[in-house]
Amino acid sequence: MSTSMEPGRTRPNRRFRARGALVLAMAGLLAGAGATALSGSAQAAGTTLGAAAADKGRYFGTAVAAHHLGEAPYAATLDAEFNSVTPENEMKWDALESNRGSFSYGAADQIVDRARGRGMQVRGHTLVWHSQLPGWVGGLGASDLRSAMNNHITQVMQHYKGKIAAWDVVNEAFQDGSSGARRSSPFQDKLGNGFIEEAFRTARAADPAAKLCYNDYNTDGVNAKSNAVYAMVRDFRSRGVPIDCVGFQSHFNSASPVPGDYRANLQRFADLGVDVQITELDIEGSGASQATSYANVVNACLGVSRCTGITVWGVTDKYSWRASGTPLLFDGNYTKKPAYSAVLSALGGSGGGGGTASCTVSYSRTNDWSDRFNGSVTVTAGSTAITGWSVAVTVTAPQKVSATWNGTPSWDGSGNVMTMRPNGNGALAPGASTSFGFTVMKNGNNAAPALGSCSAS
Ligand code: XIL
Repeated sequence: MSTSMEPGRTRPNRRFRARGALVLAMAGLLAGAGATALSGSAQAAGTTLGAAAADKGRYFGTAVAAHHLGEAPYAATLDAEFNSVTPENEMKWDALESNRGSFSYGAADQIVDRARGRGMQVRGHTLVWHSQLPGWVGGLGASDLRSAMNNHITQVMQHYKGKIAAWDVVNEAFQDGSSGARRSSPFQDKLGNGFIEEAFRTARAADPAAKLCYNDYNTDGVNAKSNAVYAMVRDFRSRGVPIDCVGFQSHFNSASPVPGDYRANLQRFADLGVDVQITELDIEGSGASQATSYANVVNACLGVSRCTGITVWGVTDKYSWRASGTPLLFDGNYTKKPAYSAVLSALGGSGGGGGTASCTVSYSRTNDWSDRFNGSVTVTAGSTAITGWSVAVTVTAPQKVSATWNGTPSWDGSGNVMTMRPNGNGALAPGASTSFGFTVMKNGNNAAPALGSCSAS
């Protein structure tokens, strides 16, 4: 008898095959990127985050800071792994228009031109936000503020016309918590709820080719805040207010982990007829648990056909806005972390960690009765993510295995050798573990079972 005691991990979703023209276009883009950026190094498909994502019809991006581009390993990691960038601060209002009507595009242009020269796409971040807003904006009266907002959107979008794949038109306009209310800001307080609609209409007129996104945090699962955003997007769609995409920032840590209904939440937004994007992903932590969380995020996006891409909020832990939480895919020395391998593997790529799939096993007796005992075997992945494992467990006649859980057993002719394979728990991030168990009827023999070595795939 086989019973499943705990839900298995979601397997990488393989339903989404190459999507015709888009994939070809992305592949062409990447070929271009490889030729320019990798100076001749052979780049087989699927061995970098960007290439593996492109194979799934998606992009894999990172936030970039202009002042780090001169650091050779920073630039090399960026160019090798990513095919989309978001300026981390350089397109915020205080960076672009610190004095009214006077625009400075230098640092943002540097990022945009560099990315486009390497075939990467660019996300624009962000036009209307309460934070990193120069003081003069807050001092304006309503009608002045309205024209300043529309002018800012128009000037900036026209400057970058044709160069930005998607803009975060409005960022973080909703409050946290259960109210579902809009956040107080100069825009909200002086222009009222209508400022968001006005911003999107102005944005569409300024660059009709750019995708227009609403972007926020704490909206990653189904909750009061995401419900409020959902209601706004549904309203916009029903009234023809131009909106093409919703960004989910996805800043996670132990207090705010990857929600269990992440994929379902992405899907309900997608069902409104908008694309969804993971825009600022970072997950505090380390090792296997961080890697598993990252894999869960990737799997959630791959499970939603309108989830068009993922952006992590920085290249290396050392420059993260939450550096103490080491939330990114490369450590401070630009070494790939277990989270990197888990992401690459979840994207269907190969070469994560550079190693071969491997696993180890350990056994313990978890319950003992006079007539029987329970055994548990823990399977731990090596330094590379694995998608499957098997291990032989041999009992001593006249012992018999009478029950198993969290695995799929098969038996040799004698009935004494049980080969256990996964039951939904085959995919393990580097260093991550899963366990299966079984009951052995002693029939007078109390010997421990013998474990074969673990085989991974
Ligand atoms: C952060 C940057 O990473 C920091 O460098 C800066 O000091 C503050 O802003 N939500 C957003 C991003 O939309 O723009 C923020 O970026 C992180 C939270």
